[in-house]
Amino acid sequence: MKCEYCLEVKDLTVRYGEITALKNVNFSLEKGKFYTIVGPNGGGKSTLVKTIVGIIDDYDGQIRIFGRERDEYLQEKMVGYVPQIASFTKFPIKVIDVVLMGLFRERRFRYSREHYKRAIKALERVGMADFSGRLIHELSGGQRQRILIARALVSDPELLIMDEPTVGLDSASQAQFYELVKGLKESGMTVLMVTHDVGFVSEYSDAILCINKTLVVHASDVSELPQSFFAKLYGYGVKAAVHGHER
Ligand SMILES: Nc1ncnc2c1ncn2[C@@H]1O[C@H](COP(=O)(O)OP(=O)(O)OP(=O)(O)O)[C@@H](O)[C@H]1O
Ligand SMILES: [Mg+2]
Repeated sequence: MKCEYCLEVKDLTVRYGEITALKNVNFSLEKGKFYTIVGPNGGGKSTLVKTIVGIIDDYDGQIRIFGRERDEYLQEKMVGYVPQIASFTKFPIKVIDVVLMGLFRERRFRYSREHYKRAIKALERVGMADFSGRLIHELSGGQRQRILIARALVSDPELLIMDEPTVGLDSASQAQFYELVKGLKESGMTVLMVTHDVGFVSEYSDAILCINKTLVVHASDVSELPQSFFAKLYGYGVKAAVHGHER
């Protein structure tokens, strides 16, 4: 089936028991663009990405990548995921093995030479090939972040999803991270990233999605948003932003 959209989310509702975290979320992402998700704490951003990447199974609605249903796109590893917080405190595992985890479902008894080659290629993509034999917990936060991106890229996904990947990075590491993402986008990858880094949103992304239980705004051009938007979103009046910006 030919499908023009990389990702389509239709009428997505996710509940945790009594709590409705997401209600009737609808949006589509075009291939090769860079999308940012913003929104207040508890707004449902992580819930959204966890549902897309298969961590949350209980949901209503439809999620498709290039027309494939969720079971199928997960099986074919069409989505790569960098989680919100990944801690490797004193976990004695080598960088190369962390990247190979991204191919876990593909291996039979052990990883093949081909798997190793792909892992090294993914590390090269993020500029970390020289670190393949190092232990993950000995790396800096920014270096570790790159390794996690390599792990997400190793299966050659159509869509890369990252949940607050710049948290804890100093400004130099953040700048390097942005350059890396720019390069991925130039290579044709569709990227969906959750961030509270408003500076990043305006400078780098093609479009933004604001999630506060439902989709509040989906602006294709960041400049469409009024200057007061972010202050309202994170400040006193999230609802005020909702009223002025129906989809
Ligand atoms: N495992 C869970 N069980 C019950 N409620 C949960 C669970 N995970 C999240 N929630 C609730 O769902 C809502 C959305 O949470 P979510 O983590 O998706 O928000 P978020 O937008 O990612 O927030 P943040 O910016 O703080 O990361 C919140 O009210 C949260 O308390
Ligand atoms: Mg979150």
